[in-house]
Order: sequence, then structure tokens, then C-alpha cells
Amino acid sequence: MSSFWSFYIIAITTIFLVGIVALIHFTRRMPDPGGEGAQTTGHQFDGIEEYNNPLPKWWLNLFWATIIFAVGYLIAMPVGNWKGLLGWSSVGQLTEDQVEHERRYGEIYQRLASIPVEELKDNPQAMRVGARLFEDNCALCHGQAATGSYGFPNLTDDDWLYGGSGDTIKTTLMAGRSGQMPAWGDALGAAGVRAVTEYVMQLSGQDDVNTSLASQGQALFNASCVACHSQDGTGNQALGAPNLTDNIWLYHIPGETLRASVQHTLEQGRSGRMPAWSGVLGEERVHILAGYVYSLSQEQAQDPQ
Ligand code: HEC
Ligand code: HEC
Repeated sequence: MSSFWSFYIIAITTIFLVGIVALIHFTRRMPDPGGEGAQTTGHQFDGIEEYNNPLPKWWLNLFWATIIFAVGYLIAMPVGNWKGLLGWSSVGQLTEDQVEHERRYGEIYQRLASIPVEELKDNPQAMRVGARLFEDNCALCHGQAATGSYGFPNLTDDDWLYGGSGDTIKTTLMAGRSGQMPAWGDALGAAGVRAVTEYVMQLSGQDDVNTSLASQGQALFNASCVACHSQDGTGNQALGAPNLTDNIWLYHIPGETLRASVQHTLEQGRSGRMPAWSGVLGEERVHILAGYVYSLSQEQAQDPQ
């Protein structure tokens, strides 16, 4: 704080306190006008007169006590650039709280981190901690319920870009992921893109497919796409290349037909990026989160709906 503002705050606080002391002192010394209730101030409201009595002693003493407390507080605590005799500071308080937090929760994190990721789902405490970490760090992109949205994968189903085992999920969280789908507009041309789009429609079991166009597309698919999406179109988790046969879409623009969205993907390419969390949260927390994410897909797997 600049010395001007420091002085300003200290001066205003002091003037205010001195003013209050003067005010009390003044009112206390007002002469008692000749006996209990003998005189009124002359004010009258609806026939009720205001008496000019001295302030009650207990009330006055309470007032003095608060003023003495205020002076003591100003000396003990920081005001402006004055650090206060107690040396308290909000930064110091924060550091203390953080150390206390680490002491209390560090132990819990450490204990939970020694349980294998896939077994954490049976530990209610891990699920509570995981849910809170998810809400704070992941819900922004994957949604409160982890069901994802356009460009952000649903984490509650058993369809995975990179794999759904405990260890794979943990690897995804620690290091982040970046899926690279190249753009094909130039290489295939407009007609080629239309044909491959039709084949992708057929692969995923849509019912309004132009089959002759799709079979032209299949040849292009075998030449250009199988390296990543595999011969049968079921994808490759090592590359994050999605399964194209399951009718689950990462890039289906809301309000657009699926055909138009797929065509858009092929023309422009896609590059989804999942941030890395090892540096942000540390391995122990990531471990617990991985357990939580794993549990979400297990719930779904047990539920026939
Ligand atoms: C900035 C947005 C963003 C945030 C925040 C984010 N993610 Fe992601 N996440 C993504 C995107 C985008 C992908 C898909 C990456 C791709 O397309 O290759 C992804 C992918 C994933 C995957 C892989 C899914 C699969 O099918 O293999 C998991 C698991 C995951 N995220 C979990 C999390 C968790 C847990 C957190 C919180 C620590 C989190 N994400 C925070 C954007 C985000
Ligand atoms: C170099 C590997 C690679 C090649 C080659 C490739 N893809 Fe992809 N494709 C990916 C990856 C990785 C993604 C996921 C992108 C992301 O996560 O953002 C993807 C995404 C897609 C999607 C979006 C799926 C969804 O769920 O929305 C479609 C459709 C697709 N590819 C079709 C094709 C077709 C058709 C070809 C051939 C013309 C092709 N890809 C060639 C790697 C590839």
C-alpha cells in the first residue's frame, strides 16, 4: 500500500475514535437539569415528551469498553502499513490454512492412492473426494454429470477414445491427450468426401444410406482411413481414433444432421485436446479422480438402461 493511503486510513480511523471519545465526554458532562425528569428537551411527539436525562451508567461503560477494545485492536492488528503487534496477515493465515489442509487431507490422499484405481469405486470416501475434484476441475468441459457434449466425450458410457481400464484413464489424466484427425477436403475433393461420408453412415448403421455412393466411399476408406480407424472401422485406442461403427459421436453438432457433421469433420479435420493434470493436481489426486471416472462407466455397465 502506498504511504499516502496507509496514512489516510490510519488518520481517518484515529480521528473517528477521538471524535467518539469527545462526543461521549461531552454528553456525559451535560448538567443534570435539576432532578429526575424535571426537565424536558422541549421536544414533543403526539403528547409524548422527551426527557433530558443522562445516559445510563451501564450503557456508558459498555461504550467505553468498546473504545478501549478498538484501540487495543488497532495496535495489535494491521492497519495501513502498520503490521500490528501480533504480526497477523491474511497471507500468513492462508499459508497456515494450507499447511493444516495438507496435514489433514494429505494422509487421506496418500492412503487412497495406495488402493488400485479400479478398486476405489468400493470406497465411499474416495468416491466423495473424487466427485468433489471432478466438479472443481472437470465438470466445466465434461458436464456436471460427466455425460459430455459436442467435442467433449461422455465419461459415463463404456465407449472410449483411449481406453477405459483404470490405468489407461489414469494415464489420460496425468499426461493429457490430443486426438489428431487430419483434414481430407483437399486430398479427397468434394465428391470423395461425400462418398466417404456415406460409407461412415453405413458403418454406423444409419437407415437412409445411398449404398452405391457408400461402396465408392468404402474404397477411399480402405485407402485413407484404415491406418487409424482400422479395417472394420472400430478405431484404435492407441491413437484415440474413435470407433465409427457404434453410432456414438464426439462431433455431432447440435441441430445439424449427422451426415453434415461427419462431412464437416472430414473436410476440416478435428483436434480435441484434453489437458494434463499431473502438474495441477499431483499424482495422488489424479489417482483418486481416475478411480471416480472408472466408477462412472461401471455404473452404466451394470445398468441395462
Ligand atoms: C478444457 C476442457 C477439459 C477439461 C477441463 C477436462 N477435459 Fe477431459 N477431455 C477433454 C477433451 C476435449 C477430451 C477428448 C480429447 C480428444 O478428443 O482426443 C477429453 C478426454 C478425456 C478422457 C478420455 C475419454 C476417452 O474416451 O478415452 C477422460 C477420461 C477425461 N477427459 C477425463 C477428464 C477429467 C477427470 C478431468 C478433470 C481432471 C477432465 N477430463 C478435464 C476436455 C477437457
Ligand atoms: C492419422 C489418423 C487418422 C486418420 C488417417 C483418419 N482419422 Fe478420423 N479420426 C482420428 C482421430 C484421432 C479422431 C478423433 C479426433 C479428436 O479426438 O478430436 C478422428 C475422428 C474422426 C471422426 C469423428 C468421430 C466422432 O465421434 O465424431 C470421423 C467421422 C472420422 N475420424 C472419420 C475418418 C475418415 C472417414 C477417415 C479417412 C478419410 C479418417 N477419419 C482418417 C484419426 C484419424
